[in-house]
Amino acid sequence: MKKSLGDIVLVYTMPVWVIGTYGKDGKPNAMTAAAGMVCCRKPPCLGIALREATYTYHTLMERQAFTVNIASETYAGEADYFGMVTGRMEDKFAATGLTPVRSDLVDAPYIDEFPVVLECKLINSMELGSHTLFIGVIQDVKAEETILGENDLPEIEKVKPLVYDVGNTLYHGVGPLLGKAYSLGKRFKV
Ligand SMILES: Cc1cc2nc3c(=O)[nH]c(=O)nc-3n(C[C@H](O)[C@H](O)[C@H](O)COP(=O)(O)O)c2cc1C
Repeated sequence: MKKSLGDIVLVYTMPVWVIGTYGKDGKPNAMTAAAGMVCCRKPPCLGIALREATYTYHTLMERQAFTVNIASETYAGEADYFGMVTGRMEDKFAATGLTPVRSDLVDAPYIDEFPVVLECKLINSMELGSHTLFIGVIQDVKAEETILGENDLPEIEKVKPLVYDVGNTLYHGVGPLLGKAYSLGKRFKV
């Protein structure tokens, strides 16, 4: 038996991305966004949905660039804080002690301590209502060497990304490995 919950935005899972931009004063700022998705392989694009009330909405548009910093379990507190206060009022890097690094590819800062960062140029936006969807084309992905596996790609057990439960506003870690994609389903193929 299923119970109707109404037309709420409830999906599993949501990421915990920290969006890096330069403020109007040139200071680095960061805000947390769980409304993030991969949306194209070629060109490599991702989308983030921001409310106009955020400072980042404006700074991102001004510089036409942003970074996506993947928060790991170690930085759950910092990631939460980035989503609680605005860069209009607070210097969030000073408060957390995290290190902003100027990207040499896009006009935005990334967070040195986070294991994976994506540097994006804004290529499109769509106003939807409460949120505007910003599409960024990925210029580069930078990952800590210590989290790379044999194929030179990050291993999720080492990245330890946060997972967001939007319904209950809770952070989780990633669960156990269940199997390989394009392989587990093979037993149903005729
Ligand atoms: C877990 C979490 C997820 C969030 N996701 C979003 C989001 O996807 N879009 C959004 O506009 N705000 C989101 N927020 C709220 C912003 O991060 C918050 O308004 C922040 O203070 C904006 O910072 P800024 O004004 O420095 O840009 C989220 C907050 C948290 C804690």
